[in-house]
Amino acid sequence: MELIKEIKTMQKISREKAVEKKTIGFVPTMGYLHEGHLKLVENSVKENDITVVSVFVNPTQFGPEEDYGEYPRDLERDLDLLRERNVDYVLYPAVEDVYPEGYATYVQVEKGTDVLCGRSRPNHFKGVTTIVSKLFNMVKPHRAYFGQKDGQQFLIIRQMVDDLNMDIEVVACPTAREEGGLAMSSRNKYLSPQEREAALVINRTLQKAKKWIEEGERDGWEIKKKMEREIRAEPLATLDYASVVSRESLQELGEIKGPIMIAIAAFIGSTRLIDNVWLEVK
Ligand code: PAF
Repeated sequence: MELIKEIKTMQKISREKAVEKKTIGFVPTMGYLHEGHLKLVENSVKENDITVVSVFVNPTQFGPEEDYGEYPRDLERDLDLLRERNVDYVLYPAVEDVYPEGYATYVQVEKGTDVLCGRSRPNHFKGVTTIVSKLFNMVKPHRAYFGQKDGQQFLIIRQMVDDLNMDIEVVACPTAREEGGLAMSSRNKYLSPQEREAALVINRTLQKAKKWIEEGERDGWEIKKKMEREIRAEPLATLDYASVVSRESLQELGEIKGPIMIAIAAFIGSTRLIDNVWLEVK
């Protein structure tokens, strides 16, 4: 496994691999890897000749009051985990090389980015689509792997890839969960034992909503109200949103139908957590 810090070196390798007709699988990450990331890596290694993982904590997707400075980092541990999974290259660019003096270009998807997480994190998805486009240009992958836990992120990236004719297959992989059902996230590290217990309310509520729909409820506003009540009943939780949205438009649904996502974001103490469930409703 090779650690690559220079963007040009990565691009040279990608071109050489293309000439050799090797397929490249890519897993973009912000590091501090957990089992969820490693599942994406395993899928990539299985489905491609070469796997590249990037580790880059992207400043443009954090708001001024958010945890960019404190975001957990442990490169040595990440490298050990990736080496064990037979990753070929780890791209670890410097912030100054990704966003040099005078940097002025952003990629913005204009649908579904101002709802759900976009409402409380106004420039977040612009930062995500910008860095993901840039990483795609560095790595030139055939396939890129994302976690379904960041469901809105995945759907926005898919929109960008389609709209900009990027010749890349984007793959969503199921959310990895801890015992009890808490979605794995690098931010779970911030939770005290008591908060970790309280955080289970998120997945528990999603599972209830899924059951209500499976039992025949089709009123999106009714489900939303009931989910909000569940989250508010947990003293350590502060609700950001609980919504039933279309996976095509990301808009909230009055009548539940088609490919949908039930999504929740809540602060547990001061840690913001998200989770979601996907359903096909006839
Ligand atoms: O999901 C993440 O970890 C990040 O948003 C991503 C896709 C690596 C872009 O920085």
